[in-house]
Amino acid sequence: AQPTVDLSDNVLTARLPSGDSVTVYLYGATVTSWKTSNGSEHLFLSQAAVLDGSKPIRGGIPLVFPVFGPPPKSHATGQLPQHGFARNSYWEFLGKSSSESLGRKADDSVKLDFGLSSSMLDEAVRNKWPYEFGLVYSVTLEKGRLECQMNVQNKGDQPFDFQCLFHAYLAVKDISKTAVKGLQSSPYVDKVRSAQTFTESSPELTFSSETDRVYTPPASKDNTLVPLVVTEDGADSFVVTRDGLPDVTVWNGWEDKIKAMGDFEPKDGWKRYLCIEPGSVSSWTKLEAGDAWEGTCAFESKL
Ligand code: BG6
Repeated sequence: AQPTVDLSDNVLTARLPSGDSVTVYLYGATVTSWKTSNGSEHLFLSQAAVLDGSKPIRGGIPLVFPVFGPPPKSHATGQLPQHGFARNSYWEFLGKSSSESLGRKADDSVKLDFGLSSSMLDEAVRNKWPYEFGLVYSVTLEKGRLECQMNVQNKGDQPFDFQCLFHAYLAVKDISKTAVKGLQSSPYVDKVRSAQTFTESSPELTFSSETDRVYTPPASKDNTLVPLVVTEDGADSFVVTRDGLPDVTVWNGWEDKIKAMGDFEPKDGWKRYLCIEPGSVSSWTKLEAGDAWEGTCAFESKL
């Protein structure tokens, strides 16, 4: 058996013979579902997520580009909406490849490529950020694993600055029993404490109130980034690996913030998600004319 890929009404679903599946909306190239062969859903998607292309999708893996958070007013991204335009633009499906090229059997994985370029943006958006770019977003589904890779190309004759992030809403059973390992001694900016910088002291980050932090863990000696491990009730549930993405945002809005979000349902859903968002957001990446950049992360399910 081979992987199957169906695209209808701007929603793509790919399935492996093993039963693993992924769903991607062309709106935002947002992954909205990732299931492994036992049928478990590993991404949180709000029941009130707006799926008609009028608002970024609440849940799954929205893409953040070219700015993370509210854009600084004096920056070239200053007129853009929070988190940029990638998550609220329609992307095109460029095609699938079986990844024999990645050294696996053809039926073991499927790679889905999505594209967004400056010419595809609404004119109003293009006027706010008038650079020539090409994005290729590749989603690779393997048994028990989902890989997300962004390739950014500067196709114009001016350099531009950008930030990029994979805003993954991981589904967890109970946030109060969830922990993240691998952040000890990492510096972080705490957005709920006036964006001051702290150093993580705990080997296991746990959750008991609103959490909104950007961690920049130091790379290890051979320059690799240490994987993060999400645990639930003491058992490993996800391993998150990164390449070319120095930062990780850890976000849970907690009860009151989530209650105030019109597109977040059920209202107690804050207990059942944790955003682990690999990215390059603590500084700007400058891309010269003609240059390209790549960042990759992967989520492995351990349950
Ligand atoms: C996180 C930010 O990445 O995204 C939070 O760190 C923010 O501050 C959250 O609240 C959700 O953002 P939005 O724009 O999707 O509501």
